[in-house]
Amino acid sequence: MKKQNLVVVGAGSTYTPGMIMSLIEEKKNFPLKSITFYDTNAERQEKVAKACEIILKEKYPELESFHYTISKEEAFTDVDFAFVQIRTGGLAMREKDEQIPLSHGCVGQETCGPGGMGYGLRSIGDMIQLIKEIRQYSPEAWILNYTNPAAIVAEALRRAFPEDKKILNICDMPAAIMVSYASILKKEIWDLVPEYFGLNHFGWFTKMYDKEGNDLTDEIKNHILNKGFLPEDSEIVNDPSWIKTFKQVKTMLTDFPEYLPNTYLQYYLYPSDMVSKEDVSNTRARQVINGREQRVHQLCDGIIANGTTEGAHLEVDIHGCYMIRVAASLAYNNGDIFIVIVENNGIISNLQDDAMVEVPAMLTNRGPKPFAVGKIPTFYKGMIEGQLAYEKLVVDAYFENDYNKALQALTLNRTVVDAPVARNILDDLIAANENYWPELKKERELAT
Ligand code: G6P
Ligand code: MN
Repeated sequence: MKKQNLVVVGAGSTYTPGMIMSLIEEKKNFPLKSITFYDTNAERQEKVAKACEIILKEKYPELESFHYTISKEEAFTDVDFAFVQIRTGGLAMREKDEQIPLSHGCVGQETCGPGGMGYGLRSIGDMIQLIKEIRQYSPEAWILNYTNPAAIVAEALRRAFPEDKKILNICDMPAAIMVSYASILKKEIWDLVPEYFGLNHFGWFTKMYDKEGNDLTDEIKNHILNKGFLPEDSEIVNDPSWIKTFKQVKTMLTDFPEYLPNTYLQYYLYPSDMVSKEDVSNTRARQVINGREQRVHQLCDGIIANGTTEGAHLEVDIHGCYMIRVAASLAYNNGDIFIVIVENNGIISNLQDDAMVEVPAMLTNRGPKPFAVGKIPTFYKGMIEGQLAYEKLVVDAYFENDYNKALQALTLNRTVVDAPVARNILDDLIAANENYWPELKKERELAT
């Protein structure tokens, strides 16, 4: 097995120690020659990197090289895989994305609704720039992108790099949900074969099988309807916010029993309920800043101070393992099946070809080979088309510097609907993002 050279982009992330633990756990499936960390924030990266260096020395002695850098040339030269997880504006801007819509009575969420638009219009420019830089030094590298909002980023990259077949956008949510299914079924996630369709953070499992082809869908549904649903992955199992989110799946399945919903659909199906349960001074970003971020930084400080991982609470999580198994399937032509984000091109036969859809695909060294979904029923088609129009209009607004497209996008979004509310939110987001967003011009409005 050829050993891979990996760069982690956005390595200052609080997810990085979990990713390193996952790389160690998966070293037989995805053996590495080198790991390089890259981040634009040297200080944030250094803390995580110094701890990871110690972890790797102890648990991955066969790794030939580990280093961290803020030099693009150093980071992106001779790379086989780039794992990209950047957050333009950091958690501070995430908090604004959540608070601004909430202050207008709408869902305040990282990737759903106006928050997703705020984040999307920040991410697109940096992602395009980053892909160009990676390609300058490693034209053949696989670029696996986790950067959010994945739906909007994927659409923007589709337009910016139409010929580049080695960029793959992925989300760990379907996998995190499958970890819970696996627990219900007393199986491993890797034993399960899903059927799924939708957009990122906007999809449904239609079937779940095991490798022998047994249909386990009803067993999962019955369990959820009778006993409820909980997170099981190590990263989220004890997190009150994620517990609440997973519990909501029972309500969704009770109201819409046909398919098993992605957890993110709660924001689109129950927006008023979601808003009523939020506290604008303690949104998810604040909880992450005071929770995961502190916990991971303390963990890193402890490892650095002790010079060893002994006594440190380190865990493998699905976020890392999923990305790594995806990479392994691409690198070694394993042909395993994963849910990934690809251009529709007839996969969902009654949806436009140029939609970026989230579906299962066999992953080979020639890229993802998605399976046909066929026609989807009216309810899902209607939901998806509204959301898709929102996503496309956000990306139009970015490339065309068009205020009206952004306003149309928000008005179409199920979490907003009211045009005057959309306008107020948009204007607040513009003010909050003045250092990050492209300028949105109102000329068309004035002309009419
Ligand atoms: C899931 C989603 C990611 C999202 C994350 C947020 O993993 O798939 O796209 O960024 O949740 O989690 P947090 O704990 O930061 O709210
Ligand atoms: Mn996601």
